[in-house]
Amino acid sequence: MLLKPYLMIPGPTAVPERVLQAMHRPMINHRGPQYEEMFRRISEGLKRVFKTQSDVLTFPAAGTGALEAAIVNTLSPGDLVLSVSTGVFGDRFAEIAGRFGAQVEKLEFPWGEGAQPEALAERLARDSERAIKAILLTHNETSTGVTNNIQALVKAKGDHPALILVDAVSALAAINLEMDAWGLDVVVTGAQKALMLPPGLGFVAMNERAWEAHSRAKMPKFYWDAQAIKKSLGKGQNPYTPPVSLIFGLDEALKMIDEEGLENVFARHCLLRDALRAGLKAQGLKLLAGDEDASPAVTAVLAPEGMEGKAIQKMMRETYGITLAGGQKKLENKIIRIGHVGYVAATDVLVTLSILDMALTKLGLPIKLGASVKAAQEILMEG
Ligand SMILES: Cc1ncc(COP(=O)(O)O)c(C=O)c1O
Repeated sequence: MLLKPYLMIPGPTAVPERVLQAMHRPMINHRGPQYEEMFRRISEGLKRVFKTQSDVLTFPAAGTGALEAAIVNTLSPGDLVLSVSTGVFGDRFAEIAGRFGAQVEKLEFPWGEGAQPEALAERLARDSERAIKAILLTHNETSTGVTNNIQALVKAKGDHPALILVDAVSALAAINLEMDAWGLDVVVTGAQKALMLPPGLGFVAMNERAWEAHSRAKMPKFYWDAQAIKKSLGKGQNPYTPPVSLIFGLDEALKMIDEEGLENVFARHCLLRDALRAGLKAQGLKLLAGDEDASPAVTAVLAPEGMEGKAIQKMMRETYGITLAGGQKKLENKIIRIGHVGYVAATDVLVTLSILDMALTKLGLPIKLGASVKAAQEILMEG
């Protein structure tokens, strides 16, 4: 049978036709007026999405590059950094800081659970010398399908002066984040998730406190130096040749977000999450994250007893054309992850659930065909 490729992973995500078309244009001079006009418009659009008055800096990079930029632009070797980790990406943020010579202390939480603000408050209360220079947070832990309550974690910081650095790579433009109102000092994201672009752009927003830290930060940097990006941004440019096609795409993607309305985008992600979870639960499947921490961007499902996660992925992909993500590190083969971030609609959730019913039936699980779809339909029709 014809297999229609269907990408349901938490990044890279499906790119809308409008964005693809926008990218399919001849090059323009990245130092010319046409680029400048577009890039200034984009910069304002990004600020709206980050909910900040601060500049959002664009780096041609993967999200990990932008995380590195967040670290090297605000810290010095030897600085004590508290890394709040709830999974693979929290660990990565910590590792980057460590590689650049920060003294990293981890505040770890079980995979599948959100970070506890009380534990953060307790650790900070013990820091009477105010030695901790930065706290690393992950908004949406893509490896477990958990969304951390950033607002509550920042509240738990109280008046401790540590900078708050947030990895919002799989969250920004899918899950509400208010950089200025919540007092976040650095926020990082990437192109290939909720921004609906192909991979290749990383974004870092820094507030005044972060810029002040930048003036003292001694970690080495050249390409990642935020100052160079900010200086060029003043001219509506980038310091080094930008991936112009991706910038065309970004302009279009931001228009799409504006047209839908950012708050409606968030509501759509929540509704799709709820419908998907209801469908999965209707089949008796176990979800890694509880309802209170459940991510609007990605859902992790435990592989049923005696079944390998990879077998489900294989059946979905090879028999029906749907690509799901697997578990990472200690969750490898134990979970499957369904991405529902970015250009995702009710149709995608319904198709994925109905095909998953079929795949699990073929793998020998006692599934009631259609039960998951019905449960999801009920939620979607209320929404
Ligand atoms: C939360 C989070 N942080 C960081 C990254 C790293 O992004 P990239 O793969 O673009 O380097 C990812 C990618 O999935 C992510 O989900």
